[in-house]
Amino acid sequence: MTTTAEHDAAAEARRGAFSGRRVFILAAIGSAVGLGNIWRFPYVAYDNGGGAFILPYLVALLTAGIPFLFLEYALGHKYRGSSPLSFARLSRRSEGLGWWQVGICFMIAVYYAVVVAWALSYTVFSVTQAWGDDPNAFFFGDFLQAGDPGVTLEFVPGVLLALVVVWVALVAVMALGVSRGVGATSVVFIPVLIVAFAALVVQALRLPGAASGLDALFAPNWSALGDPAVWAAAYGQIFFSLSIGFGIMITYSSYVHRRTDMTGSAMVVGLSNSGFELLAGIGVFAALGFMAQAAGVAVGEVATSGIGLAFIAFPTIVNEAPAGAVIGLLFFASLVMAGFTSLVSVLEVVVSAVRDKFETSRVRATLLVTIPCALFSTVGFSTTSGVYVLDILDHFINRFGILLVAVVSMVVVAWVVRALPRLRDHLNRDGSVPVRGWWIVLVSTVTPLALASVLVRELWAVLEEPYEGYPQWMLLIFGWLAAALVAVAGFAFARVPWRPETRVDGYDDEDDAVTSDAAGRDL
Ligand code: ALA
Repeated sequence: MTTTAEHDAAAEARRGAFSGRRVFILAAIGSAVGLGNIWRFPYVAYDNGGGAFILPYLVALLTAGIPFLFLEYALGHKYRGSSPLSFARLSRRSEGLGWWQVGICFMIAVYYAVVVAWALSYTVFSVTQAWGDDPNAFFFGDFLQAGDPGVTLEFVPGVLLALVVVWVALVAVMALGVSRGVGATSVVFIPVLIVAFAALVVQALRLPGAASGLDALFAPNWSALGDPAVWAAAYGQIFFSLSIGFGIMITYSSYVHRRTDMTGSAMVVGLSNSGFELLAGIGVFAALGFMAQAAGVAVGEVATSGIGLAFIAFPTIVNEAPAGAVIGLLFFASLVMAGFTSLVSVLEVVVSAVRDKFETSRVRATLLVTIPCALFSTVGFSTTSGVYVLDILDHFINRFGILLVAVVSMVVVAWVVRALPRLRDHLNRDGSVPVRGWWIVLVSTVTPLALASVLVRELWAVLEEPYEGYPQWMLLIFGWLAAALVAVAGFAFARVPWRPETRVDGYDDEDDAVTSDAAGRDL
């Protein structure tokens, strides 16, 4: 018979593991802190009540974000597998949920890498302010060479080159494995990111007009609290920002030592992510306040998010601010670091699933995943039409991928498999935050209902008016079809049998160590 320690050592050698809780927490923070924090949160907060948004945001964090994070940690840590393997061990019927998440992550990786590549190019451009006097014309014209919405196969060499650099770095990190690749990337990047971003915030706060930006961000509009759209925005922000619903946290928690305080870790990750988000709000709005003052307009006229904020507003700020090149370098390098560690975590969901299912080597699984992903990414997005496809895919996958799979998985775990009491017990075994009936009520009822109402609103909005006025055929293919495809493919993939050596049915983490003989065979 093998002992628990021997069993775990064998599993670690086979699947990889983080070297300790500190690395796990840094990797989880690396995943959570990403583009969502830097370019999405500040504007979502500003647009949804400013200072008053703090209330729905905290409610969403405490009633949905942290409880769902607990759920993902419990699943991955108890069942010790990638997302599909953990769901399959929970119940064969739920395996498809894991593959659905794998499909979502594949799609996200394809376009998220493109934004990281743009940010990489802009880090270099910051030095000489290569975008000139008109950053808008430069971004869409000289840099992306974007035409009208549609699909073309005209490649843009500059974007292609940056994208190849990002994918080569990704292949290297993923091939190095969980500890030396995934974990080490966050151990290096996260402290550097925090220092760089804090320096950016200090620099932004010293700009003339910074205070008016902060006033605009934090001025509370209490009437917004009566608007359901504001609450929907808070729930939507929390899921993307915390990296939950992707299967990332299930995968990462499967790489942590068996006796680890998972609830305390979840609190550290959740609060660090929100802290960074707040810092990003301060930095971004201080800079926007400067931009508005320089242009002699109200902050509301320059406030924006996403592509507009990063690639048009920030270059404008860099052009006009004292020591602008430093601001540009710090901002774009932060985007690259935050985006890269999130991207690694998104890819890890796919690599880990392929590895578990086919019991294949790390390098082979990495190549099996990254080669098609990189091909889709470069062929699809380094063309003159890439920016439109990216915008549509991002919008639909976030809503009808991540949020939908989150609702379905809560319903399945709570009401079909009825596993919440055993997952609660698992969390309480070593957790420093006691998990009681409140968690079961939140995960089984409150959070799914809140998310379902967000989804209905989103569905209504896209049916009422085509998203951003794009042609219907583009929304159909890159929006609806892409979101449906990952779900259908996920459940189809769940029918592929596991290898005989992968223990799936009847798996229990409490006794798995004593159900194998000395040679590691199942008894
Ligand atoms: N959580 C990651 C982000 O915020 C995906 O970008």
